[in-house]
Amino acid sequence: MLNPNDRLVIASHNKGKIREIRELLEPFQLDVVSADDLGIPEPDETGTTFVENSVLKAVEIMKHCGLPCLADDSGIAIDALNGDPGIYSARWAQKEDGTRDFSLAYDRIFKSLDPQQSHKAHFVCVLTLAFPDGATHSFEGQVHGHIRLPARGDHGFGYDPIFTPEGYSQTFAEMGQDFKEGISHRYHAFEQLKQFLRKP
Ligand code: IMP
Repeated sequence: MLNPNDRLVIASHNKGKIREIRELLEPFQLDVVSADDLGIPEPDETGTTFVENSVLKAVEIMKHCGLPCLADDSGIAIDALNGDPGIYSARWAQKEDGTRDFSLAYDRIFKSLDPQQSHKAHFVCVLTLAFPDGATHSFEGQVHGHIRLPARGDHGFGYDPIFTPEGYSQTFAEMGQDFKEGISHRYHAFEQLKQFLRKP
């Protein structure tokens, strides 16, 4: 269990994710730091599912620092690509020098799809809490919608500029950050995590 002022390490080096997670955790008044802040290296994501990678990251980083850790494994799954890029969402944007350029990922996606059409897709987020006693708890959220070029909007990160959630006309990157945080895959996973944290 976590109480106000307890330290919680976010097992991520992705600045966009860390910012969103920090904001979502604000009501719990935890002492939130990231693995990056503590200089802990990113573990290799060798799992074959979002859940496996999320557990792997949370447990690896927890073992490094001996503190409760929260990992987020997330990505976008496109129906017409049989769920790709899925767990490889970050890797599809990776350049040879290790930095990320999402226009590479957009090109790869739309090379095999009609760029004039919209295509069904959903974001997935699996959050895992790992405690020093070895207990782990995972929570999954999804948001369904469509992807389409051109990329639109300046907010958010990653695939936000090409994803429009069902029932809306703006992409995640055109919506304000607060609005996205109220409907996203991460929001839905967090709702379950919050229920867990509120349990006596
Ligand atoms: P990982 O979970 O660190 O393996 O990376 C997930 C990948 O999916 C990153 O490249 C993100 O850019 C992308 N991704 C995850 N969540 C979101 C989101 O909320 N918006 C846009 N892209 C996302």
